[in-house]
Amino acid sequence: MKYYIETYGCQMNVADSEVVAAILKQHGFTLTNNINEADIILVNTCSIRENAETRVRGRLKVFQQLKKNRPDIKIGVLGCMAERLKEQLIKEEMAVDLVVGPDSYRTLPQIIENLKEKAVEVDLSSTETYEDIFPFHYDNNGISAFVSITRGCQNFCTYCIVPYVRGIERSRSPESILKEIDKLVENNFKEIILIGQNVDSYNYNEFSFPQLLKLCANSFPTVRFRFSTNHPKDMSQKLIETIAEHNNICKHIHLPVQSGSNKILSLMNRGYTREQYLDLINSIKANITDVSISTDIMVGFCGETLEDHQQTLSLMKEVEYDFAFMFKYSERSGTYAAKYLKDDVPEQEKIRRLNEVIALQNSLSYQSKQKDIGKVYDVLVEGYSKKSKSQYMGRNSQNKVIVFTSDKPIEFGTIVKVKVENFTSATLLGKTV
Ligand code: 5AD
Ligand code: SF4
Repeated sequence: MKYYIETYGCQMNVADSEVVAAILKQHGFTLTNNINEADIILVNTCSIRENAETRVRGRLKVFQQLKKNRPDIKIGVLGCMAERLKEQLIKEEMAVDLVVGPDSYRTLPQIIENLKEKAVEVDLSSTETYEDIFPFHYDNNGISAFVSITRGCQNFCTYCIVPYVRGIERSRSPESILKEIDKLVENNFKEIILIGQNVDSYNYNEFSFPQLLKLCANSFPTVRFRFSTNHPKDMSQKLIETIAEHNNICKHIHLPVQSGSNKILSLMNRGYTREQYLDLINSIKANITDVSISTDIMVGFCGETLEDHQQTLSLMKEVEYDFAFMFKYSERSGTYAAKYLKDDVPEQEKIRRLNEVIALQNSLSYQSKQKDIGKVYDVLVEGYSKKSKSQYMGRNSQNKVIVFTSDKPIEFGTIVKVKVENFTSATLLGKTV
């Protein structure tokens, strides 16, 4: 049987699709990237905001059309939307035959093979980490790979659906993580991105994230390590020191702030204040040379006044983020905010605030790139630039994309020195030195 898979949402979902692909491969299924020759179409979904779900529902309508000519194909919804909506998804979307949540992927082959009518498998687990499964990196540049170190989340930020759809937090054993990296290195991967909903709360029998990161960096000195996502309430001084001390740990920290207002941070149950966040930023900047910092920002949360919004803008200016992901609040049913707080910022005003935040970040990103001009960076070469084979593309330690030229041909996966000469809205431009 041939299957086709599409992935929406975060890095965790990308990594999960690789686990799904590995499980299906073990059971003799073949992956195809041609939807027209697939017997099974899978879509790994995201529930974080309403529009993430709307996109998937749009795709399901397209799949339903395909079924008209080929009634035998089976359509499966995986991931967060599957977990959130369960049987409801089968009732609402004609196209859907199977609904499988994030902790049930091991059952997929049996479900597909035994499928008579429709199937729903959405039990959450307190132990499943898929740690014995070596992911199938089917859609990957062969250079950089995700390795998941935790699953689930129990921070219960009041706006967030994740704890409900991904279950409680569990950490994978360091042994299984090292084993996976070892295999990736054997397969010539050069960069490992350790991922989890909150890497800072990684804890395996008291073995912490800084300890894990240090172990990884020392065990694989030729590999570059990245990690994401950090949580300001859990990020430790020890982690900052660990990053500073190792050349092969990238100097980039993604530290979602969400809001600059203490009132809103408290309503969000974030567990830190503006002042504590800024102290953390100061410590990061003081201890890690040439560090880049990125963030997630949400505008228009329940009760957000113009004054609160101004606080977010002023915090952004104070931190001078290198880049940011920016969203407007989208109510998710079942969360604390949906139950107890009023979604009281009008949609038009949310859009206006979002545009203001985006405009400010654009100018901060511009400044950040401006400062890079003349600097020489170690760049891990990922491939040719999208536009032309006479230019290469890679990332520096700060996670900035650089498009550059070279007098000599360069092998993908090597680290070269690139001098920054210019930039566009999205990338730095330079040449090898
Ligand atoms: N509405 C809008 N944005 C959200 N995020 C999480 N939940 C919501 C929501 N209900 C954003 C946060 C988080 C990022 C992954 O998505 O900024 O850090
Ligand atoms: Fe990832 Fe959260 Fe979206 Fe699930 S809901 S795919 S965990 S961002």
